[in-house]
Amino acid sequence: MELLYEGKAKKLFKGPEAGTIIQYFKDDATAFNAQKKDTLTGKGILNNYISSTIFEALNQTDIPHHFIKRLSEREQLVKEVEIIPVEVIIRKVAAGSICKRLGLTEGEPLPHTLIEFCLKDDALGDPVIAREHIEMMQLADSFEIDEITSMSYRVTDFLSGIFAMMQIQLIDFKLEFGRLHNNTDFPQIILADEISPDNCRLWDMKTNEKLDKDRFRRDLGGLIESYTDIAHRMSIHLPALSAEK
Ligand code: TMP
Repeated sequence: MELLYEGKAKKLFKGPEAGTIIQYFKDDATAFNAQKKDTLTGKGILNNYISSTIFEALNQTDIPHHFIKRLSEREQLVKEVEIIPVEVIIRKVAAGSICKRLGLTEGEPLPHTLIEFCLKDDALGDPVIAREHIEMMQLADSFEIDEITSMSYRVTDFLSGIFAMMQIQLIDFKLEFGRLHNNTDFPQIILADEISPDNCRLWDMKTNEKLDKDRFRRDLGGLIESYTDIAHRMSIHLPALSAEK
């Protein structure tokens, strides 16, 4: 397979047909802009299954997305998009960097769902930016930012609901969007990347136990056990979690 791009947690290969990509999920875990690194056997398999199941569930909504199907334990077939280099962070409860930046207390519910934009640029440490920066840098136009914002709220409502059914509270998460060039005058903005415990904060509703990548970021241990717990709550039948070949 032809490798197109290697990120911190995934590799992208050329897909079998024009306009398709294969996303391969690695076991690598990074935090704090890759200053902290480890390999956690089976994490890629768990994220592939969890993200596939969430994107399949999104088919119940009219939110357009890149996911086509899961191909194997670590691979999924997706539509090729031009990724918009903006990380969209959606927060319902204060946690992580917003507590440090604004002095909020972790666990404090926000009065309303908050959307933040970060520039997707590791060399700059993914700084928080305003929509005015996005327009000024021509990363997306005003219409596209409106579209991304409204889709982000819809994804939040949908995801909060499905996690709540599993006794999990969605605290915050990150989305990425891309442009699908489908031979029309304007490209369509669709949801891309992955939705997994690597890019969501997920707390058990009864105990507030962290079930997400904070287990790695904060050296809490038990990341694979927590991701497996999430997969089981989603009724996912998992394969054995073996190392990458
Ligand atoms: P933060 O509190 O570190 O800003 O993270 C907010 C949410 O975004 C959290 O669920 C983790 C996710 N996230 C990513 O998926 N990738 C990133 O590079 C960062 C910084 C956060």
